[in-house]
Amino acid sequence: MVTDRYAVVGNPIAHSKSPFIHQQFAQQLQQNLSYETLLIEQSVNETAEQVFKRVLTSLFKQNFKGFNITVPYKQVAFEFAQIKTPRAQLAGAVNTLYLNEQQQIVGDNTDGCGLVRDLTERYQRRITGRSVLILGAGGAVRGVLEPLLALSPSRCVIVNRSLLKAQELAQQFDVLAQQYLPTKQLEAIEYSQLNGQLFDLVINGTSASLQGSLPPLPEQLFTPNGWAYDMMYSAYPTPFMQWALLHEAARALDGLGMLVEQAAEAFYLWRGMRPNTDVVLEAVRALLRNNAPVLENIEFPPEIGGYQGRPEPTRFGDWEHKGRCIDY
Ligand SMILES: NC(=O)c1ccc[n+]([C@@H]2O[C@H](COP(=O)([O-])OP(=O)(O)OC[C@H]3O[C@@H](n4cnc5c(N)ncnc54)[C@H](OP(=O)(O)O)[C@@H]3O)[C@@H](O)[C@H]2O)c1
Repeated sequence: MVTDRYAVVGNPIAHSKSPFIHQQFAQQLQQNLSYETLLIEQSVNETAEQVFKRVLTSLFKQNFKGFNITVPYKQVAFEFAQIKTPRAQLAGAVNTLYLNEQQQIVGDNTDGCGLVRDLTERYQRRITGRSVLILGAGGAVRGVLEPLLALSPSRCVIVNRSLLKAQELAQQFDVLAQQYLPTKQLEAIEYSQLNGQLFDLVINGTSASLQGSLPPLPEQLFTPNGWAYDMMYSAYPTPFMQWALLHEAARALDGLGMLVEQAAEAFYLWRGMRPNTDVVLEAVRALLRNNAPVLENIEFPPEIGGYQGRPEPTRFGDWEHKGRCIDY
């Protein structure tokens, strides 16, 4: 029997958890497939974009049935796809590729659905009628706006260092804002305008956590039951999660659930089957923890933890603080 092949494409790619996640899905659903990482970089004669298009075209003609696309190729994948799904068109980016029955290359974007499923199904967080603040205006935010707006939050605000980028996004999603928001408007603001505003849900879609830093946030940002969600994930709670908990967020989540859910949606597009994502999330969380460096001089504020070194393999325990918790 021929084994169907899949891969995640990016640069860098060695750190990707996608092979582990998809292998877990395949095992769970008894699917005969392989899933690899594929590093694409420029060569002497070709740009990285040209290499991307040449290599993927060739692999689709072999046994490869689909690809996940990550940084920095989501826009390249968008151009490469012959058919773009409506959610890919709205996102202007593609994170999943596959062939349809006519052997055309289809590009989809499952990031937004991954975030919404993690929040609303796994954590049962109601978004309808609640105020939402989104930090950042890059590719990840663009990908999640449509499914978030479709849930009709009471208001939705984008804040970004570059106000122009936030305003452009607000403009592009204006039709959806008018359709879904009671305020009829997706608001775009600068960080200095956050003073005095409180939100039920604050989603960090910036890449600040990647640099170990935080956007310039005011002292008060959360309503009494306000939640924080960092699209980034890591072995340790991200700077934004730590900040949120110390600033009275009721709960702080990282983006590992989003990663698993967007992968599950891609798996569904490829195989027509939905895996149980809870068990896979637990497994990938354990993998992250086990590979985490032991922190000798832990710098997390003592109020939200107090452990030394490697985190304990419990889901909520380590970071419980005054009845609030980091899901970690
Ligand atoms: N969990 C998942 O499945 C998943 C999926 C996709 C992405 N992500 C995560 O989402 C994050 C954003 O990814 P992306 O692809 O959207 O990146 P991107 O397109 O490069 O956008 C980065 C955004 O972050 C802002 N930013 C960067 N550093 C900042 C800082 N120090 N303070 C304030 N704002 C800062 C940028 O603001 P300016 O415009 O002003 O420069 C921009 O809005 C990353 O952490 C990525 O890992 C997670």
